This record gives sequence, C-alpha cells and structure tokens, in this order.
Amino acid sequence: MTDQTITVSDLRDAPHFFEPVADRIWRAWWEPNGFPLEHIAELLQESLSADAEQLCLVAHAGDRFVGTASVIASDLEERPDLTPWVAAVWIDPPFRGAGIGGDIVLKAAHAALDKGAEAVHLCALTGKRSFYERLGWRLDERDVGEDRLDVFSMRRAEK
Ligand SMILES: CC(C)(COP(=O)(O)OP(=O)(O)OC[C@H]1O[C@@H](n2cnc3c(N)ncnc32)[C@H](O)[C@@H]1OP(=O)(O)O)[C@@H](O)C(=O)NCCC(=O)NCCS
Repeated sequence: MTDQTITVSDLRDAPHFFEPVADRIWRAWWEPNGFPLEHIAELLQESLSADAEQLCLVAHAGDRFVGTASVIASDLEERPDLTPWVAAVWIDPPFRGAGIGGDIVLKAAHAALDKGAEAVHLCALTGKRSFYERLGWRLDERDVGEDRLDVFSMRRAEK
C-alpha cells in the first residue's frame, strides 16, 4: 500500500484508465477462456457513452491504477431475468485488504440503485461469501451453474 489518497472515478471522467481496466478484466476473466483483449475492450467501450446504463468505476491513487468494478445489465447466463449486476470487481494485489474493494463494490451497487433499480445483483465463488455478506449483500441462491456460484442481491431499502 501507499499512503496516497484513493479516489473512485467514473471511467467516463478518467478515460486514461481504460487500458489498465481492460487489461485486468481480460486477464482475470476472459484470457483464461481464450478471448482476445479486443473482446473486453469492446464491451468496456459501452461504459463510456453518456447514456449507457452500464457503468465502470475505477479506483486510483493519483495516476496509478488501483482497482475497478462495473455495473452491467447481465452477468449470469442462468439468471437472464435479473438485472443489473455488479461485476468485474478487481483490486491490484498491493492495495488489497485495506477496504478499497468493499468500498468500490458498494459505490457501484449504490450507483445502480440510485439510477432506479429496485435491486442489484452479484454472483461470486463461495470463497468470497463472507466478504460480500459483511458488506450487506443478501445471499439469495447457492450452487448456481457449473461454477456453483453464490447469487446475492442488495435492495434499495437495504442500502
Ligand atoms: C476480492 C477483492 C476485490 C477484495 O478487494 P480488497 O480491496 O482486498 O477488499 P477489502 O479490503 O474491502 O476486503 C478484503 C478483506 O480485507 C479486510 N479488510 C477490509 N478493510 C481492512 C482494513 N482497513 N485493514 C485490514 N483488513 C481489512 C476485509 O475484512 C476482508 O476480509 P475477508 O477477506 O475475510 O473478507 C480482491 O481480493 C480481488 O481483486 N481479488 C481478485 C478478483 C476477485 O476475486 N474479484 C471478485 C470476483 S466476485
């Protein structure tokens, strides 16, 4: 960790972080499944348009990339009826364990609820259950899909 202040910005207001955001999301979730970087770059582009429902937040210490979280329309093939989702939550290793991940997850969830959603959803491997429950996410379902994911929600009243 550094002692620099961490700021969380909408990627629209800090577009110079586009490359590290795309890089981390790609390496964590898309590259292992054989997708090229351009695939996620295209999806991320959608977060930059002014009227997009989709949102990408970036945490940074000055000009240094720290982490990211997104709000997207759908994240889980098995639950196409649920929307929106907080997804692609990533904090660079040197910055972990200091509350930045929890903070950016809540900021993304609150942004989705403030835009009018009754509930926002999130899916995660079971190892992250305590992390999300501590943040106030409600565990709605377990063992969903091949990866046996937990599915959580946060409602406006629970914010
Ligand atoms: C999951 C992830 C985003 C968490 O980010 P983070 O910044 O470390 O998150 P936080 O610091 O808010 O919380 C992490 C832990 O540190 C603890 N913590 C929070 N603030 C703390 C502080 N000030 N001092 C010490 N520990 C603290 C939390 O209690 C939490 O403990 P837990 O692991 O037992 O749940 C990060 O580990 C990551 O990017 N992992 C790889 C990608 C990933 O798994 N993403 C989630 C997909 S669902």
